[in-house]
Amino acid sequence: MTEAELYTVYKGVYVPACLHPPQSLKYYEEFSFRRDDIIIVTYPKSGTTWMQEIVPLIMSGGDPACVEMLPNWDRVPWLEEHRACVLNLEQRPSPRMFSTHFHHTMMPPSFFETKPKVIYLMRNPKDVFTSSFHYYGMTSFLVNPGPQSEFLHKFLDGKVMFGSWFDHVKSWLNAEDKDRIMYISYEEMIMDLKDSVARIAQFLKKPLDTEVMEKIADRCLFKNMKQNKMSNYSTVPREFMDQTKSEFLRKGIAGDWKNQLTVAEAEYFDAVYKDKMKDVKYKFVWD
Ligand code: A3P
Repeated sequence: MTEAELYTVYKGVYVPACLHPPQSLKYYEEFSFRRDDIIIVTYPKSGTTWMQEIVPLIMSGGDPACVEMLPNWDRVPWLEEHRACVLNLEQRPSPRMFSTHFHHTMMPPSFFETKPKVIYLMRNPKDVFTSSFHYYGMTSFLVNPGPQSEFLHKFLDGKVMFGSWFDHVKSWLNAEDKDRIMYISYEEMIMDLKDSVARIAQFLKKPLDTEVMEKIADRCLFKNMKQNKMSNYSTVPREFMDQTKSEFLRKGIAGDWKNQLTVAEAEYFDAVYKDKMKDVKYKFVWD
């Protein structure tokens, strides 16, 4: 199926129509944030699910029940998704935890008035591309990626769900109120998960014993998290996500783009990256 059949355009970006019906997008537009809400913000395929495991474990003081009782999409729901309006989020006790794939410029008015806490998780865009390529091939609500070279152009032009990776990252790096935003990368989490858990806990002002943080980091290792049925998408029917084609928790490594892109594709990617990111001062781990 084509973009026109599967996606709607919302604030200038494609969103999968079946996951984001108009009433869900309206619900988000009118959503009332609280100052102590915690929002995990990502461009898709940057490690959202990983953070949806880490943050609840930190906030519960390491209680595994918090990630074993509820699927990640109810535990740290996406505010733009169809389920958000039926979850009674207004009744949830503080601090509430949410996710979003919105660009900073797409956030609703209450976000700018209330300034909740944001964890902005980024990933090397070549790995985001690689992860996306496999993901688009296994879901029925996304346009089939087609040949890799074709999908590469779509990705670099932002003609994919949630638009351009470049615009997404730049919008959040340009956000005001930097003391309310923690920037962290997938690669830092791969390099040192314990340290990343400690930094996130510090940002969330949740002091934890070293032993608890070690347990959280261990639980969130790829091989361990993959076993959690509430986080590995194994409960999603095969007609939506066919994990025989590609698993949701697929490889969980940094640098898999080297196995995916040809030399010419990687060079082209780098040239586009250099041009689009030329004004960005932020030092990315992958540069
Ligand atoms: P790969 O496809 O490269 O394996 P999102 O949750 O934003 O959709 O991102 C999915 C990506 O994060 C997938 O990348 C997935 O394997 C990876 N991921 C999820 N949990 C992880 C973990 N505990 N450790 C490392 N990577 C993880």
